[in-house]
Amino acid sequence: MTSASAAPSRNLALELVRVTEAAALSAAPFMGRNDKIAADQAAVDGMRLMLNSINMTATVVIGEGEKDEAPMLFNGEVLGAGDGPEMDLAVDPIDGTRPLAQGRPNSIAIVAAAPRGTMYDPGPFVYMNKIAVGPGAAGVINIERPIAENLSAIAKALDKRPTDVTVVILERPRHEDMVKEIRAAGARIRFIDDGDVAGALMSAWPNSGIDVLLGIGGTPEGVITACAMRAMGGEIQGKLYARNDDELNKGREMGYDFDKVLTMHDLVSSDNVFFAGTGITDGELMDGVRYIANGATTESIVVRGETGTVRRIKATHRFPKLETISSVKY
Ligand code: FBP
Repeated sequence: MTSASAAPSRNLALELVRVTEAAALSAAPFMGRNDKIAADQAAVDGMRLMLNSINMTATVVIGEGEKDEAPMLFNGEVLGAGDGPEMDLAVDPIDGTRPLAQGRPNSIAIVAAAPRGTMYDPGPFVYMNKIAVGPGAAGVINIERPIAENLSAIAKALDKRPTDVTVVILERPRHEDMVKEIRAAGARIRFIDDGDVAGALMSAWPNSGIDVLLGIGGTPEGVITACAMRAMGGEIQGKLYARNDDELNKGREMGYDFDKVLTMHDLVSSDNVFFAGTGITDGELMDGVRYIANGATTESIVVRGETGTVRRIKATHRFPKLETISSVKY
């Protein structure tokens, strides 16, 4: 039991932010170069190097890359310098590879960690239908209910008129019907091209102007979002989404239930979660990497579940000094 005088325990997120900073700094040179694979490789290399410097034994449960055949941190790969706690890791070295490659906003580097065995393993299934809200509307959503009912419950919880509720959703053809439902319910829509982790974070971020994330996005991003939302006091619910009958049948054979509601607890079952994210290109939540004389600045968000502390960290990196001690390519 923690006594009032106990020294605060280690905040792994403060170490993980160096991982996302390294990924962001490694990926940033690729902005607008139209080379997704090279950008991903650079971010993965930066991330792996830094992860291996942290005292922990961390197993990658949520790698990324299968969907896009991108270079990745492999599921099952064990990282860390050992000696520390046993953790599950969820990584997304670049959430928003396309916008980065195209020189557009909203790409971020993300990592989340939770005690070993507490993160949901989505297997090979790449898409998840999601609903995510911030602390003000946590507890009132239900992915099984019609969108209009959820929006009305969110409006009530936030003490807003239903017409003032703002939904963020990936702009995708698969969302055509959902968009019709949102419009019929009278809510406002903010479309994003990519990056639904940032979209979900906005719903939990004070004064972001976003109240709820809806729609089908990546499963890795769903689990990572659950870590962040759990730490920030928000809520996410998801349901695996099959793209076709083959996927559905494969899921059934493997014991996955596409009708099951995945609660935040199903997605990550511990409060002892850590989340860090660093902007690569400029976004609404964080600035991207900005180059200055002999270095660059980064902006990151760092969240710890046990305390609910959310930090925003701005860092100045000095390349000539770093290059003498680090093999990260700046
Ligand atoms: P990556 O850059 O990691 O590929 O993900 C970008 C992203 O927009 C995610 O934020 C989102 O969950 C997913 O892709 C949506 O998938 P798709 O682009 O196939 O609709």
